[in-house]
This record gives sequence, structure tokens and C-alpha cells, in this order.
Amino acid sequence: MSVAQSSPIRTMNPTTAHRAGDQLLQVSGLSKHFAGLKAVSEVSFSVEKGEIVGLIGPNGAGKTTLFNCVAGAFAPTAGSIKFDGQEIAGLESSRIARRGLARTYQNLRVFSDMTVFDNVSTGAIGRIGTSLWSALAPGLSKHKEEQIAEATLEALRTFDLIEFADQPAGNLSYGQKKNLEMARAMSLKPKLLMLDEPAAGLNDTETAQLAERVMALRDSGLTIMLVEHDMPMVMRVCERIVVLETGKLIANGDPASIRNDKAVRAAYLGEDQ
Ligand SMILES: Nc1ncnc2c1ncn2[C@@H]1O[C@H](COP(=O)(O)OP(=O)(O)OP(=O)(O)O)[C@@H](O)[C@H]1O
Ligand SMILES: [Mg+2]
Repeated sequence: MSVAQSSPIRTMNPTTAHRAGDQLLQVSGLSKHFAGLKAVSEVSFSVEKGEIVGLIGPNGAGKTTLFNCVAGAFAPTAGSIKFDGQEIAGLESSRIARRGLARTYQNLRVFSDMTVFDNVSTGAIGRIGTSLWSALAPGLSKHKEEQIAEATLEALRTFDLIEFADQPAGNLSYGQKKNLEMARAMSLKPKLLMLDEPAAGLNDTETAQLAERVMALRDSGLTIMLVEHDMPMVMRVCERIVVLETGKLIANGDPASIRNDKAVRAAYLGEDQ
């Protein structure tokens, strides 16, 4: 079946899909191969400033691999990734982060023995830096430390973690650890926040709270990309949804069109329509 041709309601050509506007992220012809496996194959889409864009697809579709390419964990096999107008494909993840791109991970990356504050501050430290300046220019270093503390405290407040700031992160519940990951990403004060399955393992109340937070962050001016299997949440919070299946982009549109898209339904249900 050629899924890319099977939907009568798709409004955009998946290989050239983009909307006119102020684009923060432009992914063009992106491929990532692992030996013979085409984990991501010639994917093109863009994200406008202030949008929440969902990235969905069945297990193994290439969502995390695409995130890893954009955030610099993997160098792409081919293609271009422009962030805020500049090419970032193949740059080191720390350099991409400093340009204002923050991400969370599908699997928690929490340092259990470190305090909640120190876990979250690693995001701000990545942006602001400390160690070299503390040796060379103590005055400037103090200013940087204040900036790091300020960004960390703001992120802790946003994610209801301030009362746990001095506790070891290992004491937190699973839901709070997920919040810690987002707080760490936000302490970087990013332009683009990329969340990889933020609702995984959360209960209904926590998921509803997450959805409110994500929309509030968008309302404050942040641009967000969201990989998620929780479809009600994706449909509720995303303005636009990009769908991958076995590494290929099969649809790109608003939630209503994606919900009714035959190729998307076939990808999820394993149906050949
Ligand atoms: N580092 C790697 N080395 C080799 N193969 C990989 C690597 N990372 C991912 N893959 C493979 O690439 C494909 C896409 O994986 P990826 O993790 O991107 O999927 P996904 O859409 O995030 O899936 P899920 O919803 O299960 O998280 C899979 O076949 C996976 O096994
Ligand atoms: Mg994944």
C-alpha cells in the first residue's frame, strides 16, 4: 500500500509540507540510517513560532531518532535542520542547546543522589556556563551563578518542585521526576521545547495537569514539539500533528484531519485500506 497516497483529505504534500509564517524549525529531507535500517527517511516539515506540534506514529516509527537528530544527539545521515534560520544539522548537542533548543528524554535522566535544585540547574548551567569563569573572573562568575539560580528557581516554581529543592531527586514520585525533567529543560530558557513522551506513566490527573502546563507554556510564547502516544492529550493540546510510519512522514495537518486520515488510521491499526 502506498500510505502517502491513500488519504483523500490530506491537505499538504508530506515532502514539502510547511506553512507560511515565522518558522522556528525547518527540517528538510532528513534521514538517519543505522546500518541498513532507515529509522528516519527523507522527512520534511516545519514548526512555526508559538505552535504546539505533535509528532506521533507507532512504536519504532522514528520519533525519538528524529528528536535525537534535531537536538544533536545523532548526526543525520542526510538532510538539513534549520533552527531560528541557522543550519544545526550535525552540531554538538551542547551548542544546539545554547542556541535555545531544550529537550526531555523518553527514559528519565534523573540523578537520584543530587538535589532537585542541582538536577534542574544543569540545564541553566549548560546555557550560562560557570567553571571557566569561576577561575578567570570571580566577579563575572558570581553574576552567572545568580543567573543560574534565578533560572533554576523559576523552573522549580513552574513545575511545583520548589518545596523539594534541597531534597535528593530520588525522593520524588515518578510524576514529580517527569516534572523535574521538564523543569531542567525550561531552566535553559529555550525557544523550542521538545518533549519525548511526557505523559508516559502519568495518571489521568497528572496528564491533565501536564496538558494545562504545556498550553500555558505555549501561551507564554514558547514553541513546543511533543512526541506522545496519549492521543486524547495530543488532540487536545496540538495545533498541528506530524505523523511518521517506519521512518517516513505520512501526514501533516490539524488534529481533525489527522484523526480522520486513512493512512494514519491504517498505520495505527495495521489495516491495509
Ligand atoms: N541507536 C540506534 N541504533 C540502531 N537502531 C536504532 C537506534 N535508535 C533507534 N533505532 C531503531 O530505529 C527505529 C526507530 O526507533 P525510535 O526509537 O526512533 O522509534 P520511536 O518512534 O521513538 O518509537 P517508540 O514510540 O517506541 O519510542 C527502530 O527500529 C529502532 O530499533
Ligand atoms: Mg521513542
